[in-house]
Amino acid sequence: MLAGENATFDFARRLAAAIKPGLVIYLHGDLGAGKTTLVRGILNALGHSGRVKSPTYTLLETYRIGELELRHFDLYRLNSPEEWQSAGFDDEFDAGNIFLIEWPEQARGCLPPADLDVRFTILDEGRELNIDAKSKLGEQCLTCL
Ligand SMILES: Nc1ncnc2c1ncn2[C@@H]1O[C@H](COP(=O)(O)OP(=O)(O)OP(=O)(O)O)[C@@H](O)[C@H]1O
Ligand SMILES: [Mg+2]
Repeated sequence: MLAGENATFDFARRLAAAIKPGLVIYLHGDLGAGKTTLVRGILNALGHSGRVKSPTYTLLETYRIGELELRHFDLYRLNSPEEWQSAGFDDEFDAGNIFLIEWPEQARGCLPPADLDVRFTILDEGRELNIDAKSKLGEQCLTCL
């Protein structure tokens, strides 16, 4: 249970400390649930000092923080697998890159499998957050939280 935006940022800090190269995180939840807020918190915790734009229209924002390469997708407006291919997103799948993917269900079949599934549910006040490990790497990350 995350009572407010600051609770989301606190969780983001813990997740950032446990994040590993190659980790693929799917972010589920309705519009306005807090997915981009979590990504913003993770990037800031890792030391990114610039803006974190929601990739609402660009679909992808890229970050390099020290040695870490991060890819933040928001696929809400992805219309088809063809659009994915023509955008050249497959080229982003370097095994060392960290993926934070909003609306992964929009690109089913195109994405690398998730290591972690994060799910936000909007409550009257705050958000409920569920996190599931889907791989060994995901489990390792969860035990560090
Ligand atoms: N734990 C929380 N409790 C209440 N409000 C929160 C919490 N975490 C984030 N918020 C607020 O909820 C909103 C979430 O917006 P955000 O852009 O992160 O949503 P999103 O899931 O990325 O939506 P979209 O699918 O449209 O990209 C922001 O206004 C943020 O301040
Ligand atoms: Mg968003």
